[in-house]
Amino acid sequence: MLREGFQTARVGLKDSFPLQLYHKAKKYFWDPRSIDFSVDKESFATLDEGQKEASLHLASLFVAGEEAVTLDLLPLVQVIAREGRLEEEMYLTTFLVDEAKHVEFFDLLIREVAQEADLERFHSVNYKKIFYEELPKAMGRLLDDPSPEAQAEAAVTYNMIVEGVLAETGYYAYYRAAELLGQQGVKLPGTLEGVRYVQRDESRHIAYGIYLLSRLIAENPSLWEVVERRMNYLLPYALGVVQDIFRAYPQGFPLQLEVGEFVNYAMGQFQKRYRRLELARSQSLKEIEQIALETDEGDA
Ligand SMILES: [Fe+2]
Ligand SMILES: [Fe+2]
Repeated sequence: MLREGFQTARVGLKDSFPLQLYHKAKKYFWDPRSIDFSVDKESFATLDEGQKEASLHLASLFVAGEEAVTLDLLPLVQVIAREGRLEEEMYLTTFLVDEAKHVEFFDLLIREVAQEADLERFHSVNYKKIFYEELPKAMGRLLDDPSPEAQAEAAVTYNMIVEGVLAETGYYAYYRAAELLGQQGVKLPGTLEGVRYVQRDESRHIAYGIYLLSRLIAENPSLWEVVERRMNYLLPYALGVVQDIFRAYPQGFPLQLEVGEFVNYAMGQFQKRYRRLELARSQSLKEIEQIALETDEGDA
């Protein structure tokens, strides 16, 4: 494919929403290796066996989930680059390095605090369905099929379900568990600092996913059906991931957390994003760009 010319040599970069996310990504850059886990390490040693197991369980789902999204993102970057969407690709370069840092953060957390290996034992049937099967399949499809349908299915799987429902519910679990442990005098400052940084990065990722899906739907409103079908297909597996965590502890979850609270939280995340995408059916590209620019998404 021959190049017709260069955007930057003709009109320059467009001050669009993806470029705004790119600037935020540079502004909020952080280094997992600068986090001090020494207090967390001491705290972990004071937990009972059940609490240690539950902490590792949550970390194991995150570390592998971050590895999955790092390995699986590239085909989307390729598709966007091939479409000549320079600002979106510039943002996506930061997206990929964010995911690499998330892998590093959770890997450090596990190795430094718990020194544990063999964490695949925590990966349940529903977790495997999403992270071993649906995510790599939807993203890998883009290598041969860059169609808007394939992009929409990939973005729903990656941004709406994995990031928007599962990761968001996981941060909530970290905050709630830290709150309960804090009442017992157990402090986890390094863990919470890192989780806050990861969550801020993820808010940009989800904002991009919403932007991408809204753009695809605005360009082709019939894609809404593809998005809706994919969202509803994956929802039971996503809720299943949350339920599986609690099912693994039939004697009661060691951190005094209740499954219902987390299923409701996950559902709330799903519905919020579903409604947002539904609006794109009646919006123009210009309106979508304007709405995105006016929000502080990615700044959370
Ligand atoms: Fe991530
Ligand atoms: Fe992400």
